[in-house]
Amino acid sequence: MIEIENLRFAWPRAESDCLAIDRLSIAAGSTLFLYGPSGSGKSTLLGLLAGVLVARQGRVGVLDTDWSSLSGARRDALRADHVGYIFQQFNLLPYLNVIDNVLLPCRFSRLRHERAVRRSGSVQADAGALLAHVGLAAELWRRKAAELSVGQQQRVAAARALIGAPEIVIADEPTSALDAPLRDGFMDVLLRECRTAGSTLVFVSHDERLASRFDAQRSLASINRAAVHEAAA
Ligand SMILES: Nc1ncnc2c1ncn2[C@@H]1O[C@H](COP(=O)(O)OP(=O)(O)O)[C@@H](O)[C@H]1O
Ligand SMILES: [Mg+2]
Repeated sequence: MIEIENLRFAWPRAESDCLAIDRLSIAAGSTLFLYGPSGSGKSTLLGLLAGVLVARQGRVGVLDTDWSSLSGARRDALRADHVGYIFQQFNLLPYLNVIDNVLLPCRFSRLRHERAVRRSGSVQADAGALLAHVGLAAELWRRKAAELSVGQQQRVAAARALIGAPEIVIADEPTSALDAPLRDGFMDVLLRECRTAGSTLVFVSHDERLASRFDAQRSLASINRAAVHEAAA
């Protein structure tokens, strides 16, 4: 589902590469836990997997397509169809209500719109079903996102990433703002929903206690030669 080969990525004006990954392969439907200290390049790697960032060298392929072979507009379209992204700060639109936030991917992707309709009869019904699965009470569904607690916003962000069953779900430290009981409940829901939909999950965290729930665990240092070089220098 995801293939990296000979990737080199440097941020503009940086003196050295941020990422140098010779090979990384993530099987369709699997769940990967990726960990490493702050600043080690985890979010940068997720940006490359999602085609938000493009490598200066090497190949980052999803669904047999190399992101760097596409124009910006084609990357946006491929991402909208196939990638659900849960950001650390959730990135909900604060002035939209909960349902409209969850429906955003269906506005940008006909494929995800059609899948949601096929599953539940309408996109609204599918958004409601997902919100119920992630445990957000129905009386909150018409509230503006800005009026929700952090734990509630996180559930909305998960439902938004999952709607229309994207092949790839990317989660960037989505539990860092949560206390332990909320965190464990959220992990249960996210893993269950990804397994039900057959989505490939790439989950980043520095909290190694979560690692055992995943099919595979990798530290960024174990795949990134740039970081190894920096640590040895
Ligand atoms: N937008 C950016 N512009 C320039 N440098 C960046 C940017 N985002 C991250 N970096 C740099 O890339 C490195 C890795 O950052 P990041 O991927 O955010 O790490 P992590 O997610 O593991 O905390 C850091 O040195 C950081 O300063
Ligand atoms: Mg990060």
